[in-house]
Amino acid sequence: MKLPIEGLSRAHLREALEAAREKDVDWRNGRIGMYIHYAGEDVLEVAKEAYLAYFSENGLGPRAFPSLAKFEDDIVAMSLELLHGGPDARGAMTVGGTESILLAMKSARDRARARGYTVGTAEVIAANSAHPAFDKAAHLLGMKVTRIPVDKDYKADVAAMEAAIGADTIMLVGSAPAFPHGVVDPIPELGALAQRKALWLHVDACVGGFSAPFAKMLGADIPEFDFAVAGVTSMSADLHKYGFTAKGASCVLFASAEDFAFLPYAFSNWQRGAYATKTFVGTRAGGAIAAAWAVMQYLGVEGYKDKTRRILATRQRFCDAATKLGFQIWGDPQLGIVSFGSDDIDMFAVAEQMEKRGWMVGRLSEPRGLHMMLNLTHEPVVEDFARCLAQSLRDVRAGKLSPAVTGAQY
Ligand SMILES: Cc1ncc(COP(=O)(O)O)c(C=O)c1O
Repeated sequence: MKLPIEGLSRAHLREALEAAREKDVDWRNGRIGMYIHYAGEDVLEVAKEAYLAYFSENGLGPRAFPSLAKFEDDIVAMSLELLHGGPDARGAMTVGGTESILLAMKSARDRARARGYTVGTAEVIAANSAHPAFDKAAHLLGMKVTRIPVDKDYKADVAAMEAAIGADTIMLVGSAPAFPHGVVDPIPELGALAQRKALWLHVDACVGGFSAPFAKMLGADIPEFDFAVAGVTSMSADLHKYGFTAKGASCVLFASAEDFAFLPYAFSNWQRGAYATKTFVGTRAGGAIAAAWAVMQYLGVEGYKDKTRRILATRQRFCDAATKLGFQIWGDPQLGIVSFGSDDIDMFAVAEQMEKRGWMVGRLSEPRGLHMMLNLTHEPVVEDFARCLAQSLRDVRAGKLSPAVTGAQY
């Protein structure tokens, strides 16, 4: 496409934007198991209104926009309270889970350097269920990630992680929960290990940060996973997932001001004065910050509990539908992620059959399975899912396998 010589009319653009969606999934119909965290029309409207109200403002300029700086302070304070940060805990907003993880790793690396670590490649030890963001960050930061197979329950194997600790190890990772199976790692054991070995422990609660606290309030059997656990140094918690706000909002949180001091970056060796940020990115959408603040204030504890209760109930119904057809749930998922499979059915073939029926399901490779991250669009479609799954299973059993079953990932 070329930049038009004359700009197009707004009416034309409205049409073009709508037409461009033609091949996009219709996420509102609940047939996609990823990317979307819908909590109702009202929540969406609150987020959109706040986003538009601060559409042009820039999170890079806290002096120009003290409103945004205050929203961020409030968001960090609300998040820290939820995740049991003590009076010394600190944090910052970022644009997403990947950035939060990258910044935690950068802080851990810089703390290690400040403590005299100079040789070798700083190493992070994580279960192989941890998000690829750790490896992406390691690539950018000149670090390395050693991945350790999960245990039989798909949780981080703490003993195996301990055995892998070497002279270059500076950080351990636990997930609450990890994306593949949706199970929460044994954070108290990891915290004890981190303390014993004087290592940084990052808890990746990108998925669970704004759902696990409410699930626990509702009685879910989730072990301690946040700053209540001694040894947890930092956490990532995504507002744009189960915080139900606009994309572009996450938090990186630190148990202590001392460790938080390794987060900011400052530079002044150019012509335009001091430049300092707490984030990797520079310019940040004011709208994403305002929307996060507004949604948190709109939902409150009771609102989040209500959404969480409904998502957990929906997850249980998905689990029941799968087990009724003979599938096995992988691990013991406690939050909004579920994955399931079978030892004797080609699950990628099942996934393909589901896609033929209009479902965009995730494919899990270890063990092979179907993967869904649930939200409130899924609440009304569980029966439809069960019906399509039964038909897909029947077709796979009948040998209706297309040669295109490749295991393509989403
Ligand atoms: C456990 C976990 N950590 C980190 C991330 C990365 O988050 P983002 O895509 O917001 O960068 C994800 C994304 O799904 C995740 O599930």
